[in-house]
Amino acid sequence: MTTITAAITAVGAYVPEFVLSNQVLETMVDTNDEWITSRTGIKERRLLKEKGKGTSYMAIKAAQNLISKANINPEEIDLIIMATATPDMPVASTGVYVATQIGATNAFAYDLQAACSSFLYGMSTAAAYIQSGRYKKVLLIGADKMSSIIDYTDRATCIIFGDGAGAVLFEPNHEGLGLQDEFLKSDGIGREYLKIDAGGSILPPSIETVENGQHFVFQDGKTVFKYAVSGMADVSEKIMERNNLTKDDVNWLLAHQANKRIIDATANRMGLDEEKVLVNIHRYGNTTSATLPLLLHDFEDKLKKGDNLIFAAFGGGFTWGSIYLKWAYNKQ
Ligand code: UT7
Repeated sequence: MTTITAAITAVGAYVPEFVLSNQVLETMVDTNDEWITSRTGIKERRLLKEKGKGTSYMAIKAAQNLISKANINPEEIDLIIMATATPDMPVASTGVYVATQIGATNAFAYDLQAACSSFLYGMSTAAAYIQSGRYKKVLLIGADKMSSIIDYTDRATCIIFGDGAGAVLFEPNHEGLGLQDEFLKSDGIGREYLKIDAGGSILPPSIETVENGQHFVFQDGKTVFKYAVSGMADVSEKIMERNNLTKDDVNWLLAHQANKRIIDATANRMGLDEEKVLVNIHRYGNTTSATLPLLLHDFEDKLKKGDNLIFAAFGGGFTWGSIYLKWAYNKQ
């Protein structure tokens, strides 16, 4: 009997049309293009502006993009995992609505929330279902409408985040391709540094919480930056070490796109040359659960069957980790 591994066999994505550039942000808050570019690497981000459209709108588009590219029948999908920190509603799973809308009538679905590591954790979960032999097609979607929780008068957060969605299909593989190893971590110390105070069970929404802006994202950027730099670099180095991967063995680094300086620090620790580091932060900013699948989508042409990919992420909570995956196909 051959071992079943869990491979990514298709990718899809969607970003909204509206572009918020650094130049426009300069007219909204006290900031400038030079500061944003040098401190974060971000030039522009996409926002879903249309009233009444939530995270599911982008998730559905990304899933439909994957379904048409890979020419699969949505009725064959067994499970949909919706990685998101911005569900359509606090209650009523967004993933379930997405499943119904895309015609995945035989799938069950649920949401997975681990802040900016939601998609990375979702990869682990999706792969485990496949490796167990229980399911054959698991659709993992990472989507966030960060603009719904950002205060566009707060220069510390509004310059960073954007909206977007990406999707990948996990299927069984018998050639040893797909997810090889994972190193996932979390630490509740992070709760104070990146959070939304109100709207949950501790502080339900009220006129007062809204007046105080407590329904928006708060981030102590400096502290998160410090933890992110060491956290992401540590796990990426560790996963290389325990899989006996040298810098020459690694073909691509796909790191959560939160800050170009954090990505560079991780790549440096791994000893990787710049051309192996996939980056699109300048176009989308930090799309939270969508950064990793958006990288896969944008650079799908470059990825070759058998390539060694290292994924890394860091997010609120804190949550962070690294995944080693062997790419399973050449794009047609
Ligand atoms: O995805 C989840 C995880 N999140 C992250 O990984 C984000 C981690 N943090 C960061 O990426 C960075 O901390 C930021 C990009 C958020 C901020 O960059 P920084 O280099 O850490 O800046 P800082 O907060 O230390 O601020 C430096 C200076 C301050 O001025 P003073 O006190 O030195 O006079 C800020 O007031 O820059 C000022 N500043 C700004 N200036 C222009 C802060 N925000 C801005 C801004 N434009 N938007």
